[in-house]
Amino acid sequence: MTTMDRLVGAGVARIDGPAKVRGTAPYAYEQDPGEPICHVAVVQSTVNRGRISRLDPSRAEAMPGVLAVLTPANAPRLGHGLASDLPVLQSLDVHYQGQIVAVVVAETSEIARAAVGAVAVEYSAQGPDVVLSAERPDLYAPDKLMAGFETDSVIGDVDGALASAAVTVDATYSTPTQHNNPIEMHTSMARWDGDRLTMWDANQGPHTIVNDLVAAFELERDQVRVISPYVGGAFGSKAFTHPNQIVAAMAARVVGRTVVFELSRQQMFSLVGHRTPTIQRVRLGADADGRLTAISHEVVEHTSRINEFAEQTATPTRVLYAAPHRRTTHRLARLDVPPPTIMRAPGETPGMFALESAMDELAHQLGLDPVELRIRNEPARDPERDLPWSSRNLVACLRTGAERFGWAGRDLAPGVRADGRWLIGTGVAAATYPTRRRRAECRITGHGDGRWTVEIDGSDIGTGAWTALTQVAADALGVGLDAVELRIGDSALPFAGGAGGSTGMTSWGSAIVLTARDVRRELDEKHGGVLPPRGIVVKGGVPGESPHASDWSMHAFGAHFVEVRVDRDTGEVRLPRATSVYAAGTIVNARTARSQFLGGFSMGVSMALHEESVADARLGHYVNHDLAGYHIATNADIGELDVHWLEEDDPYVNELGMKGIGEIGITGAAAAVANAYWHATGLRVRDLPITPDKYFRELGAG
Ligand code: MOS
Repeated sequence: MTTMDRLVGAGVARIDGPAKVRGTAPYAYEQDPGEPICHVAVVQSTVNRGRISRLDPSRAEAMPGVLAVLTPANAPRLGHGLASDLPVLQSLDVHYQGQIVAVVVAETSEIARAAVGAVAVEYSAQGPDVVLSAERPDLYAPDKLMAGFETDSVIGDVDGALASAAVTVDATYSTPTQHNNPIEMHTSMARWDGDRLTMWDANQGPHTIVNDLVAAFELERDQVRVISPYVGGAFGSKAFTHPNQIVAAMAARVVGRTVVFELSRQQMFSLVGHRTPTIQRVRLGADADGRLTAISHEVVEHTSRINEFAEQTATPTRVLYAAPHRRTTHRLARLDVPPPTIMRAPGETPGMFALESAMDELAHQLGLDPVELRIRNEPARDPERDLPWSSRNLVACLRTGAERFGWAGRDLAPGVRADGRWLIGTGVAAATYPTRRRRAECRITGHGDGRWTVEIDGSDIGTGAWTALTQVAADALGVGLDAVELRIGDSALPFAGGAGGSTGMTSWGSAIVLTARDVRRELDEKHGGVLPPRGIVVKGGVPGESPHASDWSMHAFGAHFVEVRVDRDTGEVRLPRATSVYAAGTIVNARTARSQFLGGFSMGVSMALHEESVADARLGHYVNHDLAGYHIATNADIGELDVHWLEEDDPYVNELGMKGIGEIGITGAAAAVANAYWHATGLRVRDLPITPDKYFRELGAG
């Protein structure tokens, strides 16, 4: 074992790449249960709030090929205490538009979908309440935010400091509802063998799904197995169980055959959550040199009638800049919307748009370079927890990024550069995301012939985890990649939490490293350092958060530099180039990490310029509920991206010094684009996305 770090860091090509390219890697819909598969289609509520007054499935039931129509009248009863949207068909009450009110099971998907149209449903309904505003009288403070964050934080006298500040910014920013749209729609294939349930499913962590299926169908853990080796993208909506898994299992139980339920693209806009919209008032106070004296970040966001989803939007404001007086608050409105869920850097993504836009506005007030403004407000310690940083290299990211991008000599004035019709501007914003580690277990089997099997219920949602974990395992065992067979994506494997919160590698990778250490100890102590011919099996893992987590503040940092061009006649925005620099600890796979950073940043550009789910205030539905109406940035929308990361050695975060990289790329990205847009046009758009109509709105207002 003298070859540590031989593979970690290398840009190893995806080991699952060839199977994916050839189409032989089975996704949930493509699994072969060995029998003809029945298909599910669902009838969804057309009202947001009310009660089913009439439901007649008889025409659908009579259609040839229809095996069953499940309704609240005949569906199996589920266990109690299920999360928000999981008690499918358990009541006549309707809580959101798109709620499943009947389920058709048929021999083919065509028959199932046709039969949906033959189910008669009527409702007694109240008008939808779907519009968020900061003036709503029913805003309330949740007890806690997601991930255990405090709802509010108050240090010092913010209002006094704002009143006496030499320079202030007071601006309100808003971000719209957004929907997770991975390429692969949520898909669940279910089969019962007696009282044992097997589910092939697209998710971010099989163990999480098992928990809910056990509760819903009142089973023991060993009666449920969820298998998910390949997942076609996921940004949070696949982290938790949604109605699709419940429906597939319920339908399979009723018809006694294997059933598959694949959501349509339109159903992605009602059944699997969304990113909450936000309204954020940011107030900054600074002295004449640009040192912040006060930061206030007040957030209003929505949740649903049936769950409390309290997104941690202002939490990056608690760590990013020094200031003696500071306040963050979060308030919620309960609306007639589907339950919101997490979406890539939930909280940090909308929160950083507001904070990093406000910092740009402050730099302009001060006549100061926005990079320099950030450097002047670099905190020596975590400004709210009063802890040292385990490592923090935001300033180095800003300096390196400025150099790579060619920031020096930038003219501070907005709206003064043009190339023909194109107005040109550049903008900067910071990026940050917390570093955590979670409980994970691992089993390593050394075979007598020198091969190793490494088993953990980790999850590759397209990130490269198959490859990166194999690299970690090979290094930790001191062998080559070919000697390691990794097994992930199956709840029958040792416990691990899902791919979420950028904790996959930090948790699963750490579990593998520590278990491999136990392997070495066992070999040394019992076998003279040599793998015995009959092999060995060693179980290990990590118990949870890093033991240093309460003494050190742990975060990844980065900086984005963006150029945009805005057509002065049409308001069209182009993004020809950007540079992002990250300090995110050990980078395990240089190739797949670059892909994560590229993807995160591109999703942020998409947020800045395109993505918005529009709720109809009268009819209550998301009007643009497909990929024609909900544009997601494509290659044509993204220019040349320069992605770079700094060497960073953090001894506190976890065994390999990894900080997690799935989410940081999107944080700050939208602000960098908006700041560049302002620099190009002189127009400050504070409500995303920055669509061409807003160019004319702001021109008119100016
Ligand atoms: Mo990601 S939103 O933490 O699944």
